[in-house]
Amino acid sequence: MKRILSGMQPTGNLHLGNYLGALKNWVALQDDAECYYMLADLHAITVPQPPEKLRQSARETAAAYMAAGIDTAKSTLFVQSAVSAHAELMWILSTLTPLGWLNRMTQYKEKSAKSQDLELLGLYSYPVLMAADILIYKATHVPVGEDQKQHLELTRDIAGAFNRHYGVDYFPLPEPQILGDATRVMSLRDGTKKMSKSDESDYSRINLTDDADMIAKKIKKATTDPDALPDNLADLVKRPEADNLVTIYASLTDRTRASVLEEYAGSGWGIFKPALADIAVAKLAPITEKMRELLQDPVEIDRVLIHGAEHANALTQKHLREVKEIVGLWSLM
Ligand code: TYM
Repeated sequence: MKRILSGMQPTGNLHLGNYLGALKNWVALQDDAECYYMLADLHAITVPQPPEKLRQSARETAAAYMAAGIDTAKSTLFVQSAVSAHAELMWILSTLTPLGWLNRMTQYKEKSAKSQDLELLGLYSYPVLMAADILIYKATHVPVGEDQKQHLELTRDIAGAFNRHYGVDYFPLPEPQILGDATRVMSLRDGTKKMSKSDESDYSRINLTDDADMIAKKIKKATTDPDALPDNLADLVKRPEADNLVTIYASLTDRTRASVLEEYAGSGWGIFKPALADIAVAKLAPITEKMRELLQDPVEIDRVLIHGAEHANALTQKHLREVKEIVGLWSLM
């Protein structure tokens, strides 16, 4: 049986990139595998987070997972910091991770270049914690957006290093699952930049909490070139903003970009943008509504998260004992 682990940082609202690049695929994978979906709050604190806001953000992100279709009867939903084996395995893996591997991580380079603050070890060692998140479950598959690909390659390298160093075949090498067309949703303001929570302009992204008017307004204002839509993919991919909007449309409707072009070739933005806004509202409004409903009962969300953490702890403590046995460390039993 496949085992899946994936997660998101619970920092503010999720956006359309998180939904199309990851969450939508997680929902679809629930019937094929044993799934663990977490709120990566230990990763979130690599940049300063107000404590109460962080805790509340985990609840809100959990509500977003469930509203989008994560079914807690099928999948385990939990907060990373409530499952201590992640951090413990990270230490063991860090003893086998050469600095050179971390120096290659483009996300670290980008984040540390942007930050005016001190360079912190947490941001640097972030990918080792990510490897531990995955390996402590002995996960076989990890569904993510394109931007996490390099971190997953590192996870495979670290798993291989552990197996080789101790002469065991303990950790499976996890497969990245970068699925569908929308693996890298771009900013609505600049088709060469990824849609991201940290972009200063809220108009660069569609948040899962935006209402219908806001979604329509953001799509209307999205940067585009003046030309009508082409009738073939080769011409589309030369136009990043156009490609992004067509990709979003295709992904929201589970169609291919080619089939969207077949319908809209020759149409101008005055036709395509309102059609896209209608689709986006139709798909996202029920999620936003459900999220609001779930958040009315935070006690129930906490109950789900505690139950999930207990389940995750049972498996990860077992694996941690096995790892400690291999390494020559001590456990209580
Ligand atoms: P995070 O919180 O940045 O993003 C969560 C998921 O959303 C995807 N994503 C996108 N996909 C398409 N287009 C975009 N513009 C876009 N922006 C984000 C990400 O690829 C990701 O799948 N380090 C991770 C969280 C994490 C994790 C893990 C993931 C911690 N441990 C173990 C998998 C396995 C992160 O910061 O994701």
